[in-house]
Formats: sequence, C-alpha cells, structure tokens
Amino acid sequence: MDERYHRCTPEKEKELTALCLEKGIPPDTIRTLIDGEKEKDRKFELKMAAAGFTYDDIDRINSRPTKEKVHEEKIRFRFDYGPVLPLLQERIDTFAELHRHDADKHDEDEDDEDDEDASPSSVLSKPIFFPAVDIAAGSSVGTVALAATSLNPTATNNTNLCWYPTDNDVERTEEILRYQLEESPLFVDDDDQPVFGCNPIELRGLKTAKYNGKIGYVVCPDPKNTGRYGIKFSNDPNESNISFKKENIFHGGCPSLHEAILYDLQKKNKAKDFFQNLINRIRVVDIKDRNTWSNVEELHDKCAFVTCTNLLTAIGYRDPTAWQDTMQLASKLLHVDGYLLQYDAVDYADFGNTSIMEEYARTESLGFELDFTTSALLHENTGRMRNIIIWKKI
Ligand SMILES: C[S@@+](CC[C@H](N)C(=O)[O-])C[C@H]1O[C@@H](n2cnc3c(N)ncnc32)[C@H](O)[C@@H]1O
Repeated sequence: MDERYHRCTPEKEKELTALCLEKGIPPDTIRTLIDGEKEKDRKFELKMAAAGFTYDDIDRINSRPTKEKVHEEKIRFRFDYGPVLPLLQERIDTFAELHRHDADKHDEDEDDEDDEDASPSSVLSKPIFFPAVDIAAGSSVGTVALAATSLNPTATNNTNLCWYPTDNDVERTEEILRYQLEESPLFVDDDDQPVFGCNPIELRGLKTAKYNGKIGYVVCPDPKNTGRYGIKFSNDPNESNISFKKENIFHGGCPSLHEAILYDLQKKNKAKDFFQNLINRIRVVDIKDRNTWSNVEELHDKCAFVTCTNLLTAIGYRDPTAWQDTMQLASKLLHVDGYLLQYDAVDYADFGNTSIMEEYARTESLGFELDFTTSALLHENTGRMRNIIIWKKI
C-alpha cells in the first residue's frame, strides 16, 4: 500500500463531523471536503482552524484510492438522487415529442456523435441527440446516472441526451470517469454475470436464513480472505462491510433504471464508449466566473436539460446566491421547452422559496416558468432540508 496513504478512520471522520456541527459548519461542507474539495479561501481556513482540523486532515482523507472514492460516491448517490431521475425521464419524453425535428438537424451537423450509436437505443432506430449540461458535476457519479437514464432503451421517442459534465475544478471529474472507463469486474458470478464494484447483488445458497435472498451491493474484495467480498446493505456510513464468499454472491436485486442500463453497457463492453464520450465532453465552468461560461457557448439555445445538484450544500455558506448564477447560465443554454433542474439546500438566499425565485427570473428576463417543486426533503445523512426545483424555458 502507498506509504502516503493514511486512511481517515471512521472515528476520525465522525470526530470531524462532530466538530463541524459543534462549530456551526454545515456537515455537508466536511462531506464535500472529504469528497475531494479543498477550499483555499481564507474565511474557510479560519473556520477549519476554529473547528480544530487542518488541511493535512483533509489531505489524508482525500488521498484515498480512486476506487474507494468512486464506490463511496456511488453508495451516497444511490440514496441521494432517488427522487430526481424519474422527473428527468418524463421530461425528456415531453421535450422529445415537441422537438424531434430540431434534433434531427443537430444530429446531421454533429459527425462526432457517431460513436453514440453504441447506446442501447440504437437497436430501435437511429437515435437523435440533444446536449445537456450538468453544472458542478463533481465526481460526476450523478452525471453518469443522468446520462444512463437518458439512454433508456425502452423509451419510445428514442431521443438521447449528450451530457456535458462541468465543474470549476474538473480534475476529480476526469479522475473518477477515467476510473470507471477502465474498471474491470471484481469477479464473474456462478451465473456467468460480471459483478462490478457497487453493483447490486443478491445473496444465495447461505445456511444463515437471515442473509439468504438479501439484496445489497458489493463494496470491495475482503482484504483478509481471498475469494470473499465485503457487502453492505444500506448507505449508513457506520454500517460495516460483511464478508461473504464469492459463491454466494450473484448479480441481482432491483437496480434502478440507470443501474440496469449501465450494467447492460458493461456486459456488452460498451461502457468504455459511454464513459469516453463523457470524458470528451468535460468542460471547465465556474458558475461564479462568467469568463468560463464561454466554454459551453457552443451549446447556447440547444440544451434539453441543465442540472445543478448539491452546489449550495458545498458553497452556499459563502456564495448563497450561486443558484441565481445557475439560472443565468441555464437560461442561455436551454432550448425552448428545455428544463433546468436544481436540487439543493433550501436555506441559502431563499433557494427553495419559489415566489422569490420566480420574481428573480422575471426581473432578470430569464424566460423561465416554474414547472415543478417539492416540499423540502430531508437529507438523511446530514439532516439538512433540500428542494428540487424544475424550470421550463419558454
Ligand atoms: C457537493 S459537490 C456536488 C456534486 C454533484 N453535483 C452531486 O450532486 O453529487 C459540489 C461541487 O461543486 C463544485 N463547485 C464549487 N464551486 C463551484 C463553482 N464556483 N462553479 C462550479 N462548480 C463549483 C465543486 O468542485 C464540487 O464538485
């Protein structure tokens, strides 16, 4: 093992989170730091120092191997994005019905999308494409799910979205997408199905009735026992892996649509194209720096979707109005009838207060009509309230 690698123990992580809570720093902020972000501004440094931890602590946490980061993100994501993906799919269908003829024109112009024929939709007929942008994509585990959901092979409209993962710091975005591009299965189960890290699995053939038939996901090989793998059954960070023999682990369970689509691509060896296309479309966009918006200028008025999730949870404490910048950029990017989806913490500069947000859109002539909102949803890991807001470009 790399000598520089000192795993932040679960105890240390809990200690940091407790310190954050005690000092009034949003726990999501430490989560974001743990996930790889390193804020360099002075105000944040002071807050960290006041909370009793240093950049060394963060460095230690961040130097986990990519594989661990990817798997943790996938586990977090599975429980985090649940309410978002169905909202996406139904709107892609609505948009596609209205604008297929526009997409056909774009598609003819875009030779570089030929590789996308590898998508499952190609079995129906030649798919058509619209661009879509994920702002503050981070690890892009969310963008991957959005992109896989957009390849729904059962959709009648056969319209795909070409997702562009964007962030102000795209190093981690690329690292994590590249890992997934190169990822090999952990093993092949006794039904000849490949099992990748974090794939849903079903336990079979065990003597202990308690675990037989149970659905979980495989996290990693058991470091102490060859031929055994660590399994988790929930996203509780305090839940330890339980080790099971490979012979008892089968790909299965009830994966969500995007997991099923990704698995299908993995099995057909088409996941590499899928990830490579996402890597090719990574763009640097700092939502607070309009000079960087030119990196997605080519997509103006063309996008079917723009998404921005968990940006305020990370930077809301110092940039509470970042949701307004997101609306500004999305208004430039979206095609008429396209959608902006924001999923974020409610207590920053009235994010989630739809009358105030609508007033902002009106005053700034952004051309948005409120399409959907939830009442605030509790984020189980952090105890914060978040809202999903969807805008339609008119
Ligand atoms: C908590 S992560 C959210 C990642 C992803 N959207 C999700 O929901 O899992 C916050 C992300 O915001 C990015 N970010 C921070 N400041 C930003 C800015 N000014 N412009 C764009 N992205 C920014 C960070 O680099 C980080 O990747």
